[in-house]
Amino acid sequence: MTDQKAIPAGTDLLEEINRLRKEKNAVILAHYYQTPDLQDIADFVGDSLELSKKAAETDADVIAFCGVKFMAETAKILSPEKIVVLPDLEAGCSLEDSCPPEKFAAFREAHPDHIALTYINCSTEVKALSDIIVTSSSAETILQQIPEDQKIIFGPDRHLGGYLSRKFNREMLLWPGVCIVHEAFSEKELLKLKEQHPDAPIAAHPECPPHIIDHADHVGSTSSILNFAKTFEGDTLIVATEPHIIHQMEKALPEKNFIGAPGADGNCSCNICPYMALNTMEKLYACLRDLEPRIEIEEQLRLDAKKSLDRMLEMAAGTLGKGDLGRA
Ligand code: 13P
Ligand code: SF4
Repeated sequence: MTDQKAIPAGTDLLEEINRLRKEKNAVILAHYYQTPDLQDIADFVGDSLELSKKAAETDADVIAFCGVKFMAETAKILSPEKIVVLPDLEAGCSLEDSCPPEKFAAFREAHPDHIALTYINCSTEVKALSDIIVTSSSAETILQQIPEDQKIIFGPDRHLGGYLSRKFNREMLLWPGVCIVHEAFSEKELLKLKEQHPDAPIAAHPECPPHIIDHADHVGSTSSILNFAKTFEGDTLIVATEPHIIHQMEKALPEKNFIGAPGADGNCSCNICPYMALNTMEKLYACLRDLEPRIEIEEQLRLDAKKSLDRMLEMAAGTLGKGDLGRA
Protein backbone atom coordinates (compact mmCIF):
# COMPACT_ATOMS: atom_id res chain seq x y z
CA MET A 1 0.00 0.00 0.00
CA THR A 2 1.24 3.56 -0.74
CA ASP A 3 2.88 5.21 2.28
CA GLN A 4 0.68 8.20 3.02
CA LYS A 5 2.92 9.33 5.89
CA ALA A 6 5.21 10.66 3.21
CA ILE A 7 2.67 13.34 2.23
CA PRO A 8 3.84 16.64 3.78
CA ALA A 9 1.26 18.38 5.97
CA GLY A 10 -0.52 21.20 4.17
CA THR A 11 -0.09 19.68 0.72
CA ASP A 12 -2.77 21.06 -1.60
CA LEU A 13 -3.81 17.75 -3.13
CA LEU A 14 -5.85 19.23 -5.95
CA GLU A 15 -3.05 21.55 -7.04
CA GLU A 16 -0.39 18.84 -6.69
CA ILE A 17 -2.38 16.24 -8.63
CA ASN A 18 -2.93 18.79 -11.40
CA ARG A 19 0.76 19.62 -11.47
CA LEU A 20 1.87 15.96 -11.46
CA ARG A 21 -0.56 14.83 -14.17
CA LYS A 22 1.03 17.42 -16.52
CA GLU A 23 4.60 16.72 -15.44
CA LYS A 24 4.21 12.94 -15.91
CA ASN A 25 1.90 13.13 -18.95
CA ALA A 26 -0.64 11.07 -17.02
CA VAL A 27 -4.29 10.38 -17.71
CA ILE A 28 -6.57 9.80 -14.71
CA LEU A 29 -9.36 7.28 -15.34
CA ALA A 30 -12.12 6.73 -12.77
CA HIS A 31 -15.03 4.33 -12.40
CA TYR A 32 -18.48 5.61 -11.40
CA TYR A 33 -18.15 3.83 -8.04
CA GLN A 34 -15.32 6.09 -6.91
CA THR A 35 -15.92 8.93 -4.45
CA PRO A 36 -17.02 12.29 -6.00
CA ASP A 37 -13.59 13.94 -5.46
CA LEU A 38 -11.89 11.22 -7.54
CA GLN A 39 -14.62 11.30 -10.21
CA ASP A 40 -14.30 15.08 -10.44
CA ILE A 41 -10.54 15.13 -10.86
CA ALA A 42 -10.49 12.35 -13.46
CA ASP A 43 -9.94 13.04 -17.17
CA PHE A 44 -12.54 10.42 -17.91
CA VAL A 45 -15.22 8.68 -15.82
CA GLY A 46 -16.90 5.60 -17.23
CA ASP A 47 -18.10 2.02 -17.02
CA SER A 48 -15.76 -0.96 -17.35
CA LEU A 49 -15.99 -1.18 -21.16
CA GLU A 50 -15.50 2.55 -21.69
CA LEU A 51 -12.52 2.61 -19.33
CA SER A 52 -10.93 -0.36 -21.16
CA LYS A 53 -11.33 1.47 -24.47
CA LYS A 54 -9.84 4.67 -23.05
CA ALA A 55 -6.89 2.70 -21.68
CA ALA A 56 -6.30 1.11 -25.09
CA GLU A 57 -6.47 4.44 -26.94
CA THR A 58 -4.65 6.90 -24.70
CA ASP A 59 -1.36 8.48 -25.77
CA ALA A 60 -0.48 9.39 -22.18
CA ASP A 61 2.69 7.86 -20.68
CA VAL A 62 1.00 7.03 -17.39
CA ILE A 63 -2.48 5.74 -16.58
CA ALA A 64 -3.55 6.46 -12.99
CA PHE A 65 -6.50 4.11 -12.53
CA CYS A 66 -9.06 5.06 -9.92
CA GLY A 67 -10.92 1.79 -9.83
CA VAL A 68 -10.16 -1.75 -8.72
CA LYS A 69 -7.22 -3.98 -9.55
CA PHE A 70 -8.81 -6.01 -12.35
CA MET A 71 -9.58 -2.73 -14.14
CA ALA A 72 -6.01 -1.45 -13.82
CA GLU A 73 -4.74 -4.87 -14.97
CA THR A 74 -7.02 -4.65 -18.00
CA ALA A 75 -5.46 -1.26 -18.80
CA LYS A 76 -1.97 -2.78 -18.56
CA ILE A 77 -2.93 -5.78 -20.73
CA LEU A 78 -4.19 -3.43 -23.43
CA SER A 79 -1.46 -0.79 -23.05
CA PRO A 80 1.69 -2.64 -21.94
CA GLU A 81 4.04 0.21 -22.87
CA LYS A 82 2.33 2.55 -20.39
CA ILE A 83 3.03 2.85 -16.71
CA VAL A 84 -0.24 1.88 -14.97
CA VAL A 85 -0.62 2.88 -11.33
CA LEU A 86 -3.44 2.03 -8.93
CA PRO A 87 -3.79 4.24 -5.84
CA ASP A 88 -4.27 1.19 -3.60
CA LEU A 89 -3.19 -2.28 -4.72
CA GLU A 90 -5.53 -3.85 -2.17
CA ALA A 91 -8.52 -2.64 -4.19
CA GLY A 92 -9.79 -6.08 -5.24
CA CYS A 93 -13.23 -7.45 -6.01
CA SER A 94 -15.36 -10.20 -4.42
CA LEU A 95 -16.04 -11.66 -7.87
CA GLU A 96 -12.33 -11.99 -8.60
CA ASP A 97 -11.79 -13.56 -5.16
CA SER A 98 -14.53 -16.12 -5.82
CA CYS A 99 -12.73 -17.50 -8.85
CA PRO A 100 -9.21 -18.85 -8.20
CA PRO A 101 -7.50 -19.65 -11.55
CA GLU A 102 -6.68 -23.28 -10.66
CA LYS A 103 -10.32 -24.02 -9.77
CA PHE A 104 -11.52 -22.24 -12.90
CA ALA A 105 -9.05 -24.25 -15.02
CA ALA A 106 -10.38 -27.50 -13.51
CA PHE A 107 -13.97 -26.39 -14.19
CA ARG A 108 -13.07 -25.70 -17.81
CA GLU A 109 -11.34 -29.06 -18.17
CA ALA A 110 -14.43 -30.79 -16.85
CA HIS A 111 -16.46 -29.18 -19.67
CA PRO A 112 -14.24 -29.33 -22.78
CA ASP A 113 -17.12 -28.71 -25.20
CA HIS A 114 -18.01 -25.37 -23.56
CA ILE A 115 -16.46 -21.99 -24.33
CA ALA A 116 -15.74 -19.68 -21.39
CA LEU A 117 -17.59 -16.39 -21.59
CA THR A 118 -16.15 -14.49 -18.65
CA TYR A 119 -17.08 -11.27 -16.88
CA ILE A 120 -14.22 -8.75 -16.87
CA ASN A 121 -14.39 -8.74 -13.03
CA CYS A 122 -11.78 -11.50 -12.71
CA SER A 123 -8.01 -11.92 -12.46
CA THR A 124 -5.64 -11.72 -15.43
CA GLU A 125 -5.03 -15.47 -15.00
CA VAL A 126 -8.76 -16.20 -15.39
CA LYS A 127 -8.89 -13.92 -18.45
CA ALA A 128 -6.05 -15.96 -19.92
CA LEU A 129 -8.09 -19.14 -19.33
CA SER A 130 -11.18 -17.63 -21.00
CA ASP A 131 -12.32 -17.37 -24.61
CA ILE A 132 -14.30 -14.12 -24.57
CA ILE A 133 -14.50 -11.41 -21.93
CA VAL A 134 -17.66 -9.37 -21.43
CA THR A 135 -18.58 -6.31 -19.40
CA SER A 136 -22.12 -5.63 -18.28
CA SER A 137 -22.58 -3.17 -21.15
CA SER A 138 -21.23 -5.53 -23.84
CA ALA A 139 -22.52 -8.90 -22.59
CA GLU A 140 -25.85 -8.89 -24.42
CA THR A 141 -24.37 -7.88 -27.80
CA ILE A 142 -21.62 -10.47 -27.44
CA LEU A 143 -23.87 -13.33 -26.30
CA GLN A 144 -26.12 -12.81 -29.32
CA GLN A 145 -23.13 -13.39 -31.64
CA ILE A 146 -22.42 -16.85 -30.19
CA PRO A 147 -24.11 -19.65 -32.16
CA GLU A 148 -27.17 -21.14 -30.40
CA ASP A 149 -25.68 -24.63 -30.28
CA GLN A 150 -22.41 -23.50 -28.66
CA LYS A 151 -22.31 -24.55 -25.00
CA ILE A 152 -21.17 -21.84 -22.61
CA ILE A 153 -19.58 -21.55 -19.17
CA PHE A 154 -20.27 -18.13 -17.66
CA GLY A 155 -18.23 -16.87 -14.71
CA PRO A 156 -17.63 -15.52 -12.19
CA ASP A 157 -20.89 -13.59 -11.58
CA ARG A 158 -23.83 -15.97 -11.30
CA HIS A 159 -26.32 -13.10 -11.15
CA LEU A 160 -25.16 -11.46 -14.39
CA GLY A 161 -24.98 -14.94 -15.96
CA GLY A 162 -28.44 -15.82 -14.65
CA TYR A 163 -29.88 -12.54 -15.92
CA LEU A 164 -28.45 -13.14 -19.43
CA SER A 165 -29.59 -16.74 -19.37
CA ARG A 166 -33.18 -15.76 -18.51
CA LYS A 167 -33.31 -12.82 -20.92
CA PHE A 168 -32.02 -14.79 -23.93
CA ASN A 169 -33.44 -18.16 -22.91
CA ARG A 170 -29.94 -19.56 -23.14
CA GLU A 171 -28.66 -22.30 -20.88
CA MET A 172 -25.22 -21.58 -19.40
CA LEU A 173 -23.12 -23.27 -16.73
CA LEU A 174 -22.73 -20.60 -14.06
CA TRP A 175 -19.75 -20.08 -11.77
CA PRO A 176 -21.11 -19.36 -8.26
CA GLY A 177 -19.55 -15.91 -7.61
CA VAL A 178 -21.41 -12.79 -6.47
CA CYS A 179 -20.69 -9.10 -6.00
CA ILE A 180 -20.98 -8.43 -2.26
CA VAL A 181 -22.27 -4.92 -2.97
CA HIS A 182 -25.23 -5.85 -5.17
CA GLU A 183 -25.93 -8.95 -3.08
CA ALA A 184 -26.59 -6.67 -0.08
CA PHE A 185 -29.75 -5.00 -1.45
CA SER A 186 -32.88 -6.00 0.45
CA GLU A 187 -36.07 -6.81 -1.45
CA LYS A 188 -38.18 -6.12 1.66
CA GLU A 189 -36.64 -2.65 2.16
CA LEU A 190 -36.81 -1.91 -1.59
CA LEU A 191 -40.55 -2.61 -1.58
CA LYS A 192 -41.01 -0.37 1.47
CA LEU A 193 -39.14 2.41 -0.37
CA LYS A 194 -41.26 1.85 -3.46
CA GLU A 195 -44.41 2.25 -1.33
CA GLN A 196 -43.14 5.69 -0.29
CA HIS A 197 -42.35 6.59 -3.93
CA PRO A 198 -44.87 4.63 -6.01
CA ASP A 199 -44.13 6.59 -9.20
CA ALA A 200 -40.35 6.26 -8.99
CA PRO A 201 -38.88 3.75 -11.44
CA ILE A 202 -36.15 1.37 -10.24
CA ALA A 203 -32.89 1.10 -12.23
CA ALA A 204 -30.77 -1.94 -11.34
CA HIS A 205 -27.37 -3.33 -12.29
CA PRO A 206 -27.40 -6.94 -13.59
CA GLU A 207 -25.04 -7.92 -10.75
CA CYS A 208 -28.15 -7.68 -8.51
CA PRO A 209 -29.86 -10.95 -7.50
CA PRO A 210 -33.12 -11.87 -9.30
CA HIS A 211 -35.34 -10.76 -6.37
CA ILE A 212 -34.10 -7.19 -7.01
CA ILE A 213 -33.98 -7.39 -10.83
CA ASP A 214 -37.61 -8.60 -10.86
CA HIS A 215 -38.71 -5.19 -9.53
CA ALA A 216 -36.56 -3.13 -11.91
CA ASP A 217 -37.91 -0.93 -14.69
CA HIS A 218 -34.44 -0.70 -16.23
CA VAL A 219 -31.53 -3.15 -16.01
CA GLY A 220 -28.09 -2.28 -17.33
CA SER A 221 -24.45 -1.36 -16.76
CA THR A 222 -23.45 1.74 -14.83
CA SER A 223 -23.42 3.82 -18.06
CA SER A 224 -26.77 2.45 -19.10
CA ILE A 225 -28.25 3.30 -15.66
CA LEU A 226 -26.79 6.79 -15.95
CA ASN A 227 -28.35 7.24 -19.41
CA PHE A 228 -31.68 6.03 -18.04
CA ALA A 229 -31.39 8.58 -15.21
CA LYS A 230 -30.88 11.32 -17.77
CA THR A 231 -33.94 10.37 -19.80
CA PHE A 232 -36.64 8.96 -17.45
CA GLU A 233 -39.81 10.94 -17.00
CA GLY A 234 -40.70 11.79 -13.44
CA ASP A 235 -38.79 13.38 -10.60
CA THR A 236 -37.51 10.48 -8.51
CA LEU A 237 -35.41 7.44 -9.42
CA ILE A 238 -34.45 4.49 -7.19
CA VAL A 239 -30.92 3.36 -8.03
CA ALA A 240 -29.94 -0.27 -7.30
CA THR A 241 -26.21 -0.16 -7.80
CA GLU A 242 -23.21 1.23 -5.92
CA PRO A 243 -24.45 4.65 -4.71
CA HIS A 244 -21.44 6.75 -5.77
CA ILE A 245 -22.84 6.77 -9.32
CA ILE A 246 -25.55 9.09 -7.97
CA HIS A 247 -22.92 11.86 -8.00
CA GLN A 248 -23.04 11.96 -11.83
CA MET A 249 -26.85 11.91 -11.80
CA GLU A 250 -27.05 14.82 -9.37
CA LYS A 251 -24.54 16.78 -11.44
CA ALA A 252 -26.50 16.22 -14.65
CA LEU A 253 -30.00 16.65 -13.16
CA PRO A 254 -29.82 18.65 -9.92
CA GLU A 255 -33.59 19.18 -9.91
CA LYS A 256 -34.34 15.42 -9.69
CA ASN A 257 -34.26 13.10 -6.71
CA PHE A 258 -32.04 9.99 -6.81
CA ILE A 259 -32.38 7.47 -4.00
CA GLY A 260 -29.96 4.58 -3.45
CA ALA A 261 -31.72 1.23 -3.02
CA PRO A 262 -31.50 0.09 0.62
CA GLY A 263 -29.78 -2.83 2.26
CA ALA A 264 -31.27 -4.82 5.16
CA ASP A 265 -30.61 -1.92 7.56
CA GLY A 266 -32.93 0.32 5.51
CA ASN A 267 -30.25 2.63 4.09
CA CYS A 268 -27.71 2.30 1.31
CA SER A 269 -24.43 2.70 3.22
CA CYS A 270 -23.83 -1.08 3.27
CA ASN A 271 -23.81 -0.98 -0.54
CA ILE A 272 -20.65 1.10 -0.80
CA CYS A 273 -17.97 -1.02 -2.48
CA PRO A 274 -15.28 -1.49 0.20
CA TYR A 275 -12.62 -2.14 -2.47
CA MET A 276 -13.32 1.00 -4.50
CA ALA A 277 -13.41 2.95 -1.23
CA LEU A 278 -9.73 2.18 -0.61
CA ASN A 279 -8.73 4.73 -3.25
CA THR A 280 -8.46 8.29 -1.93
CA MET A 281 -7.15 11.65 -3.15
CA GLU A 282 -4.09 11.20 -0.91
CA LYS A 283 -3.27 7.86 -2.50
CA LEU A 284 -3.91 9.22 -6.01
CA TYR A 285 -1.47 12.05 -5.29
CA ALA A 286 1.14 9.64 -3.90
CA CYS A 287 0.86 7.21 -6.82
CA LEU A 288 1.28 10.00 -9.36
CA ARG A 289 4.25 11.37 -7.47
CA ASP A 290 6.00 8.00 -6.94
CA LEU A 291 4.63 6.14 -9.98
CA GLU A 292 3.91 3.33 -7.52
CA PRO A 293 2.19 0.99 -6.87
CA ARG A 294 2.51 -0.19 -10.47
CA ILE A 295 0.68 -2.95 -12.26
CA GLU A 296 3.15 -5.44 -13.77
CA ILE A 297 2.10 -8.54 -15.71
CA GLU A 298 4.36 -11.29 -17.00
CA GLU A 299 4.43 -11.02 -20.84
CA GLN A 300 3.13 -14.48 -21.81
CA LEU A 301 0.28 -14.19 -19.31
CA ARG A 302 -0.54 -10.74 -20.69
CA LEU A 303 -0.65 -12.03 -24.28
CA ASP A 304 -2.89 -14.96 -23.26
CA ALA A 305 -5.28 -12.63 -21.43
CA LYS A 306 -5.25 -10.12 -24.28
CA LYS A 307 -6.77 -12.63 -26.72
CA SER A 308 -10.06 -12.83 -24.81
CA LEU A 309 -10.10 -9.06 -24.20
CA ASP A 310 -9.45 -8.28 -27.88
CA ARG A 311 -12.37 -10.51 -28.77
CA MET A 312 -14.55 -8.52 -26.38
CA LEU A 313 -13.54 -5.24 -27.98
CA GLU A 314 -14.10 -6.59 -31.48
CA MET A 315 -17.42 -8.26 -30.68
CA ALA A 316 -18.68 -5.21 -28.79
CA ALA A 317 -17.88 -3.16 -31.91
CA GLY A 318 -19.36 -5.85 -34.19
CA THR A 319 -16.10 -6.34 -36.10
CA LEU A 320 -15.26 -10.00 -35.31
CA GLY A 321 -15.86 -12.47 -38.17
CA LYS A 322 -18.15 -15.43 -37.30
CA GLY A 323 -15.42 -17.96 -38.16
CA ASP A 324 -13.18 -16.39 -35.50
CA LEU A 325 -15.30 -17.67 -32.61
CA GLY A 326 -14.41 -20.71 -30.51
CA ARG A 327 -11.66 -21.36 -28.00
CA ALA A 328 -9.13 -18.53 -27.75
P1 13P B 1 -19.88 -1.58 -15.14
O1 13P B 1 -19.36 -0.21 -14.85
O2 13P B 1 -19.27 -2.14 -16.37
O3 13P B 1 -21.37 -1.61 -15.18
O4 13P B 1 -19.40 -2.55 -13.94
C1 13P B 1 -19.85 -2.43 -12.65
C2 13P B 1 -18.92 -3.00 -11.64
O5 13P B 1 -19.27 -3.68 -10.75
C3 13P B 1 -17.55 -2.70 -11.72
O6 13P B 1 -16.92 -3.32 -10.68
FE1 SF4 C 1 -16.36 -6.02 -7.37
FE2 SF4 C 1 -18.87 -5.47 -6.69
FE3 SF4 C 1 -16.94 -3.80 -5.95
FE4 SF4 C 1 -17.64 -3.97 -8.55
S1 SF4 C 1 -18.91 -3.25 -6.87
S2 SF4 C 1 -15.56 -3.97 -7.71
S3 SF4 C 1 -18.19 -6.15 -8.70
S4 SF4 C 1 -17.18 -5.94 -5.29
